[in-house]
Amino acid sequence: MNVLLVGGGGREHAIAWRLAQSPRLSKLWIAPGNPGTAAFGENVEVPVMDFDGIVALAERVRADLVIVGPDDPLGAGIVDRLTAAGFPTFGPSGAAAQIEASKSFANELMATAGIATSVSASFDDPDAAKAYVRSAPYRVVVKADGLALGKGVTVCDDVAQAEAAIDAAMRDRAFGVAGARVVIEERMYGRETSAHAFSDGVTVRHMPFSCDHKPVFDGDLGPNTGGMGVYTPPGWLPEAAAEAIRRDVTERAIRALAEAGRPFRGVLYPGLMLAADGPRVVEFNARFGDPETEVLLPRLRSDLLDICDAVAHQRLADVPVEWDEAASVGVMMASPGYPGAYPRGAVISGVEDVDRDVQVFFAGAGRDERGRLVTNGGRVLCVVAQGPTVAEARERAYDNVKRISFEGAHYRTDIAARADEPLAVSLAGLPR
Ligand code: GLY
Repeated sequence: MNVLLVGGGGREHAIAWRLAQSPRLSKLWIAPGNPGTAAFGENVEVPVMDFDGIVALAERVRADLVIVGPDDPLGAGIVDRLTAAGFPTFGPSGAAAQIEASKSFANELMATAGIATSVSASFDDPDAAKAYVRSAPYRVVVKADGLALGKGVTVCDDVAQAEAAIDAAMRDRAFGVAGARVVIEERMYGRETSAHAFSDGVTVRHMPFSCDHKPVFDGDLGPNTGGMGVYTPPGWLPEAAAEAIRRDVTERAIRALAEAGRPFRGVLYPGLMLAADGPRVVEFNARFGDPETEVLLPRLRSDLLDICDAVAHQRLADVPVEWDEAASVGVMMASPGYPGAYPRGAVISGVEDVDRDVQVFFAGAGRDERGRLVTNGGRVLCVVAQGPTVAEARERAYDNVKRISFEGAHYRTDIAARADEPLAVSLAGLPR
């Protein structure tokens, strides 16, 4: 099969790596790709939001399947364009992707479907939003309604911080049009997990659970990022809660979207907080998570191309989706200053020194005019290792991280450190 993969981050590097292991792959093209994806196919310089360019590329390469990675083109309807042009496509329609692209749509869907989440309200007027936070009897989270590269969420400790977040989003437009509307939610306390699942609109195949670390610094301090590291599986997640998430969140959402005339085809992943009163949805995502994909795909035993093809043709029930028992841990190395402003062009060295069975997935990386591997973004690369336990995978990941360097590189040193801490311990003493 000829496959076109849309995207250019660590997630797409991991997807390309797995697709290349399929005996059914004839040739892979990646738009725009990165130095990592170039090892598995041909990168083509078409931006992900250039829908005419992507459709023209799919025509030129006679794509039998198109796989779309990032949220922005999904929310803007790239899958509708590709399917209208006759290309089987892995990814939700623009209507279904609103479960991620519009937080207010997601909240309405959850209310209709009876999916547990926090109390929330949407505002188009900053003064009304501020009046709401002043009267709220709990701490709040301020979220830009639209897509903001994972940075449009401010978890607030007090009213002043919430008011500043409202001004930043609505008046200063720190997240562009994504912040024209804000959603104010009750702050939840607990532990977070990501629950990925494949769906073709009817059949649902759950992936193992994983846990991202969004704040930039150790101890979950500092501003949120796109994700600084990740592990799977979370030993702390009780099976009863896992089953409740699969049944009462993911499967309910897939059914509700189908009933709303927006069948979901692709990867749906709710991010959840396991609070003292059970799991509650923090947000829905309409795609593979990044960096979750980087640790999940090494655990996939089945053929990723078979699965994506089956989703695109709505016959997911016909293919196996099996997972390895091994644990997997990923540590993200970032540019100095990220998630704020950061330099580009620092030479990356040591990648060739990692163990053969350790993966290095590139995100914000490129090549300079001399062909050297250089930094080209905030999150630069993710070092991923497997092991029989999370603790062993973690040790191997950090051992390999230390062999890679670039000027000003920073990474968290506590990724997966609490993977096996019992939930009761981490919930004890948290505010309700
Ligand atoms: N892991 C965060 C995200 O993919 O949005």
